[in-house]
Amino acid sequence: MEKTEPCIRLENVVKEFPSGTGVVKALDGITLEICPGDFVVVNGESGCGKSTLLNMIGCMDEPTEGKIEIFGQDMTKLSERERTLYRRRDVGFIFQEYHLMPELTTYENVEFIAELVNDPLSVSEVIEMVGLTDVADHRPGQLSGGQQQRNAIARAIVKRPRLLLADEPTAALDEASAREVLRVFERLIREDNAQKAPEQKTTLILVTHNREIAKMADRVVVLKNGRIASDVSQADPCSVDMLEW
Ligand SMILES: Nc1ncnc2c1ncn2[C@@H]1O[C@H](COP(=O)(O)OP(=O)(O)OP(=O)(O)O)[C@@H](O)[C@H]1O
Ligand SMILES: [Mg+2]
Repeated sequence: MEKTEPCIRLENVVKEFPSGTGVVKALDGITLEICPGDFVVVNGESGCGKSTLLNMIGCMDEPTEGKIEIFGQDMTKLSERERTLYRRRDVGFIFQEYHLMPELTTYENVEFIAELVNDPLSVSEVIEMVGLTDVADHRPGQLSGGQQQRNAIARAIVKRPRLLLADEPTAALDEASAREVLRVFERLIREDNAQKAPEQKTTLILVTHNREIAKMADRVVVLKNGRIASDVSQADPCSVDMLEW
């Protein structure tokens, strides 16, 4: 495989939150590099710092100490406006909750985001890709959990983000719906990325406490008490259909 430069570099990142009279160290010295097109799963027990790490990379919050460089930019030096533009243009966020607009249809929920950026993908094509064409005119209340999450993924990817950050995207779903959601990620990384130049590839960081989902990834980073407990590359990742539930 050709060697590419990392697009994400974290160096000794510490994040503290005030807690009572002291502080809690949610991240305690994270050093990590991620290359474009990588599919990284972050595993670890509740409270180990997974969401905090994702929030640092998504520029939702700032580190207490350390350096974060993404796409060649030192994120700690950005203005509030530049941080907002980075989140809007470069990052697609997917959470456990879907955060869809309840009064908008499947199509409109995606279109609304497409209108915020230059050069979005075609809304209909993205809806087709996540398998929601038949329910494109339904509102979230008329969709299953898995369909709502796929609507949320469509909304995230219509912007052509370089980076997809997913925090427990399948935690609220049953097995069949979770697999449908994971198949969308699998297609993005395994098929769509294969057509793209290295620097254009979508990088996916998926946070989950589920160890089985980790088998799909190119790389599995396990956190423990805010530190990296292990970081393992997988030469032969599993397909979604091979995962046991
Ligand atoms: N905004 C905050 N204020 C105070 N403490 C926080 C805040 N966010 C996270 N923490 C603390 O930081 C630690 C790491 O939290 P984080 O949410 O990153 O864990 P997590 O691995 O995502 O857990 P879970 O699997 O339960 O989602 C925990 O001790 C948590 O209580
Ligand atoms: Mg979390």
